[in-house]
Amino acid sequence: MSRVRVAVLVSGRGSNLASLIAAAKAEDYPAEIVLVLSNNPEAGGLELARAAGIAALAIDHRPFKKDRAAHEALIQSTLEAAGVELVALAGYMRVLTGAFTRAWEGRMINIHPSLLPHFPGLHTHERALEAGHDRHGCTVHWVVEGVDEGPVIGQAEVPVLAGDTPDVLAARVLEAEHRLYPECLAKAVRSLSSPV
Ligand code: GRF
Repeated sequence: MSRVRVAVLVSGRGSNLASLIAAAKAEDYPAEIVLVLSNNPEAGGLELARAAGIAALAIDHRPFKKDRAAHEALIQSTLEAAGVELVALAGYMRVLTGAFTRAWEGRMINIHPSLLPHFPGLHTHERALEAGHDRHGCTVHWVVEGVDEGPVIGQAEVPVLAGDTPDVLAARVLEAEHRLYPECLAKAVRSLSSPV
């Protein structure tokens, strides 16, 4: 079986990356993680990938100052050199330019810790509690130019319980993320009509 070549972009600890790596170990999983990139050289996700034998590179955004396009050009050439067919954002904390998202439209997915369209952006767990919602969760979606917009691939709900703090709720959502993302990555790669 030929597996779709996936790069995962992370900025932090990489627990979602870990769940994707674990899922991709199954022989019948339709994606192979060939590369992990981070804008943050200290990201835990880089070490985690290397420990799993996956090529992992930091492309630090700081030397590029405000030149997002130049930073992304280096990311783009690195993705191309690795023959990447689909990009999975997993806690990647840089806003991407329209040019980059257009270049990957239909081939880039993201996980977001809320039931979109509720609570795009940051601090989703605090906001769900403040809004008094009794359900919260996470979404995997195709990436388009608008932040946390784009067609939904899948969602997982969790209850909001009495006494929840943002941290307690975040931990419950994160468990759901770890189940949802591998399922949705598989669904996304199966839907690619013509891998490049
Ligand atoms: C997750 O909550 C994800 O939904 C959000 O950033 C967090 C990343 O966590 N986009 P991790 O690095 O995967 O542990």
